[in-house]
Amino acid sequence: MRRVVHDGPLIVGGGLAGLSAALAAAPRPTLVISPEPLLRASASAWAQGGVAAAVAPGDAPALHAADTVAAGAGLVDAQRAETLTADGPATVDWLSSLGAPFDRDADGAYAVSREAAHSRARVARVGGDGAGRAVLSALVTAARASPHLTLREDARLLALARDGAGRVCGAVVARPDGPVLVTATAVVLATGGIGGLFAETTTPTALRGEGLAAAWLAGADVLDPEFVQFHPTAIDVGLDPMPLATEALRGEGARLVDGHGRPLLGAAADADLQARDVVARAVHLAHREGRGAFLDARTAVGARFPEAFPAVFASCIAAGLDPREAPIPVAPAAHYHMGGVAAGADGRTTVPGLFAVGECAATGVHGANRLASNSLLEAAAFGRRTGRAAAAEAAGPVPTAPVPDLPPELGAEALARLRQLMSRDMGVVRDGAGLERALAEIGRLEAGEGAALPLVAARLMIEAALARRESRGAHFRTDFSSPAARAAHTRVSGRADERNKAAA
Ligand code: SIN
Repeated sequence: MRRVVHDGPLIVGGGLAGLSAALAAAPRPTLVISPEPLLRASASAWAQGGVAAAVAPGDAPALHAADTVAAGAGLVDAQRAETLTADGPATVDWLSSLGAPFDRDADGAYAVSREAAHSRARVARVGGDGAGRAVLSALVTAARASPHLTLREDARLLALARDGAGRVCGAVVARPDGPVLVTATAVVLATGGIGGLFAETTTPTALRGEGLAAAWLAGADVLDPEFVQFHPTAIDVGLDPMPLATEALRGEGARLVDGHGRPLLGAAADADLQARDVVARAVHLAHREGRGAFLDARTAVGARFPEAFPAVFASCIAAGLDPREAPIPVAPAAHYHMGGVAAGADGRTTVPGLFAVGECAATGVHGANRLASNSLLEAAAFGRRTGRAAAAEAAGPVPTAPVPDLPPELGAEALARLRQLMSRDMGVVRDGAGLERALAEIGRLEAGEGAALPLVAARLMIEAALARRESRGAHFRTDFSSPAARAAHTRVSGRADERNKAAA
């Protein structure tokens, strides 16, 4: 196998988290790999809402932290939430200084939107619903101009490499001309989430938990993999992935109704702005009962739609639907993974040399239910902390690494089956029988395909969902429909001895 020695951090992923880390690693030479050209493969570019931060008059990081803790259903690390929200205003200023064109009011202050479970308008937005693409574009421009960065936009993670002491010291990546072992002084995983494991998702379908699975196989602990956030208003027009109708529409007064125009969540003005898991279950139920679910923005947004929410408007028009004149058909879809590789605010995992940041990491700030638009904030704020930590870690000599075992690729047919079973049994509403059935099917897929990374990730998630015999946040089980008296995390050890014990 070809070998490349890189004297500095290797960053796997070119979304908001990866590029924030890469820029912050300066002046240390840093290698960034992405499976596709930047901006194309990452969920950050698709984010519509914006960056949650206490930038409005009368708001404060402590209030933002309190909302974050309340949304997380007992599993948010309060101190970590304080760190994140305290970073908020400076992070928005930093992104703005790189050229992210945040919307401003007449006085030049950031214009903010309201989204679900925020006690006030707090989401710094760009062009109404274009925050993800605009913010990431600014970072891509900065990254391309940064002399300390080398960008490889055709390299996909296959496995992590470790030295004899168990320290991560590189990765095998697939490039068009074959696999390459890249040794580096630290590895930062910024590989995104797991939306592509589900048949209904709002994220790029290529995101299938590969970083999560590779980290666990390399010995890293995984936290709360059962917690998947389903967005209640994916546009239901038969597309894969499903376009998003941002929550900010409901912040503007758009209402969720059934096929007869009756409110899904009650008539109160803010009923549709309850926590995302509550709203997703109401939309799911309406579908299951054959009532249909629609987002009616005709009165609240109406003629302003093309200027106020251009991305949603374009998706609707492309599907032959004019949201100024008709309600938008919606359904829940896998949107964000709260669980992930256990990591600190500086990305440090339980394995020396390995860092994780962004959606593939679980830093304790999302608990069982992420507060809307906290993910872009986390990606940028903790991305910068992680880049600095990884660059400092990288000050030693480049270690040598043996070639690790490479996982098999998952065939197209098996992937399609996996996505169906995940949506059916690991979706908005779960139960023990469905989860057992899903595990049995995963076993059959493993027998035919081997332990491909998406199967490893899916198994981690389903086993944790089966073991969590309660309902909490985004994890809802009809056979255990109440929360347990004490909120507890799931921690799955990646140490080889523990993994073997679990498999025995
Ligand atoms: C949205 O705009 O509704 C999504 C925002 C988020 O997922 O944080």
